[in-house]
Amino acid sequence: MAYNDFDTGNHWLPFTPNRHFRKEPRVFVRADGMHLTTHDGRQVIDGISSLWCVGAGHNRREINEAIKTQLDTLDYATTFQASNDRAFEAAGMIAALAPGDLNKVLFCNSGSEAVDTALKVALAYHRARGEGHRNVFIGRERGYHGVGFGGISVGGIPANRKAFGVAMLPRVDHMRFIHDPVDNAYIHGKDPVWKEDPLLELEQRILPLHDPSNVAAVIVEPVAGSAGWYLPPQGYLKRLREICDKHGILLIFDEVITGFGRMGTPFAADFYGVVPDMMTFAKCVTNGVQPLGGVVCRDKLYDQMMKTDAPEHVVEFFHGYTYSGHPVACAAAVATLQLYQQHNLFQRAGEMGKVLGDAFHSTLKGLPNVIGIRSLGCASAVELAPIAGTPGKRAYDIFLDCFKRGAWVRPAGDVLVIAPPYIVEKSHIEQLVGTLAESIRRHA
Ligand SMILES: Cc1ncc(COP(=O)(O)O)c(C=O)c1O
Repeated sequence: MAYNDFDTGNHWLPFTPNRHFRKEPRVFVRADGMHLTTHDGRQVIDGISSLWCVGAGHNRREINEAIKTQLDTLDYATTFQASNDRAFEAAGMIAALAPGDLNKVLFCNSGSEAVDTALKVALAYHRARGEGHRNVFIGRERGYHGVGFGGISVGGIPANRKAFGVAMLPRVDHMRFIHDPVDNAYIHGKDPVWKEDPLLELEQRILPLHDPSNVAAVIVEPVAGSAGWYLPPQGYLKRLREICDKHGILLIFDEVITGFGRMGTPFAADFYGVVPDMMTFAKCVTNGVQPLGGVVCRDKLYDQMMKTDAPEHVVEFFHGYTYSGHPVACAAAVATLQLYQQHNLFQRAGEMGKVLGDAFHSTLKGLPNVIGIRSLGCASAVELAPIAGTPGKRAYDIFLDCFKRGAWVRPAGDVLVIAPPYIVEKSHIEQLVGTLAESIRRHA
């Protein structure tokens, strides 16, 4: 099949330079295991789990069968004023996997919706406990929390924000980014240790500026994924938890990328031993095959919302999506979570992540323009010096070159990330990292 068998004129691609894409389209038509097949019959190794989604690899029979069975049983039914058996089953499994008393699951369809849902829960919860004045949100520079207006407001990626200023949430502030390119440019399987305390700024400048009593929630990605796999300094998340507790501020972990195994544990919350008040999730919860996202909330949030004086027929939380808890998506989640468990895939992610990190550091360090490498969990990133005047171009060219040579990697600014499915083998890692190394050399 040639690419011009497709009419590419109608589909406006998301987060894609469309003008360039139309000159050189990349179209996938099949997938299996670790590989994607292009329209012209080439095999491309999926080095980023298809945008951090496909933890168990592609085309898993168990998940496919569960979806087909669900379609033949209950295809869809409203999720307002009723629900379905699969939604309760999926919620139960997610709550059982989540740490502490993170037990109440609100479903939606994507990570962006999960973030907006979590922000709304925070406002509604504080209002329910008589603190409606708590309406300031604090995110972090270069944080990615999806593309809803809430998500881009607390998010800190300038390009995602710059055209939408007037429509952003008004009372939002951002903590400084967590990157130390001097002492911690190369990090391999451990927490970066900082000389200074990056949270002093929150304690001494941001919170006093807004007054902590006005702050509803702090939201962070435990590891900054979309920006290019930036790791939290040692003790950062624990201290963030303590600061939030001290001031009655909710702590939200956006685990859309880190959730369901990427760190070698169910969630990054487990990896770092810190229980947030809410955790957002999406992507790997269904192995990417059905759109499903959600927020897991601590019991106290739900309990507070139920403690209302309103009559029993009145809705407690005016929020939800037509497809919140869609039975087919939830069937996919149930089958996916069973599969992860049966094959110990989270543990495998941790083990193969070490192999990936070793390959990154031993192969890429010292190559032309390489200025940093960060490896933790089942993901590694290599940071390149930008071409003067055209930031992002070097990594974009390398990404295209890798694709032509059969490896799908992810550019993020001038960082290239590999985050393979947890079923990855050593030979796949050698191919991925080897292709990346050759390409970095070619683009010196
Ligand atoms: C941390 C984080 N939050 C939210 C999102 C948004 O998810 P979605 O694209 O499903 O809306 C993403 C997507 O990559 C993400 O990485």
